[in-house]
Amino acid sequence: MTLVALVAALAAAQLAETPPSGGPEVPFVTTPLEVVDEMLRLAGVGPGDVVYDLGCGDGRIVIRAARDRGAHGVGVDVDGRLVAEAREAAARAGVADRVEFREQDLFGVDLRHATVVTLYLFRRLNLQLRPKLLAELRPGARVVSHQFDMGDWKPDRIIDVGGHRLYLWTVPADPARRRALEAAGR
Ligand SMILES: C[S@@+](CC[C@H](N)C(=O)[O-])C[C@H]1O[C@@H](n2cnc3c(N)ncnc32)[C@H](O)[C@@H]1O
Repeated sequence: MTLVALVAALAAAQLAETPPSGGPEVPFVTTPLEVVDEMLRLAGVGPGDVVYDLGCGDGRIVIRAARDRGAHGVGVDVDGRLVAEAREAAARAGVADRVEFREQDLFGVDLRHATVVTLYLFRRLNLQLRPKLLAELRPGARVVSHQFDMGDWKPDRIIDVGGHRLYLWTVPADPARRRALEAAGR
């Protein structure tokens, strides 16, 4: 499938709120590199961070977080071909010792070690993930989503990067607030 066809599939499936037939629920469409840089800037990613990209595609977000910001990272994707590509790209970028790529469904990932989670999925998947993010991430962990929101979990910031909308949330420190958001997301 060409890039144009993939972008069209992503947009069409989002509009229809139904997965495209065959393959993973969300097709592989890359976040442009300048938008990746803004996602990492928005989350304030630095050397102390562990960045998880759920549905990592070619691994670009995690690789840039490690290469340009000194972070550690984990990328997961159901597409084994993309995971292999991401590992090769990490080796080429000289960050293979600080990143890990796993062929895995994102709903099975243990997020307790993540300090930053990046997403470029559908809104419906963001909403399904929301209780898991709030239950497993530590207070102060940041979540950045490219293009899609989290329903009534209001973002701390929304920015526009050349037509790409980016959302930032911070996991609240108050356990009651976390539980309320978690329950409302179910
Ligand atoms: C729109 S692409 C985003 C790629 C990358 N995060 C980026 O922003 O450039 C979504 C990716 O999610 C993967 N994906 C879809 N459903 C998934 C699932 N349930 N578990 C893991 N990965 C999934 C797809 O294979 C695809 O590579």
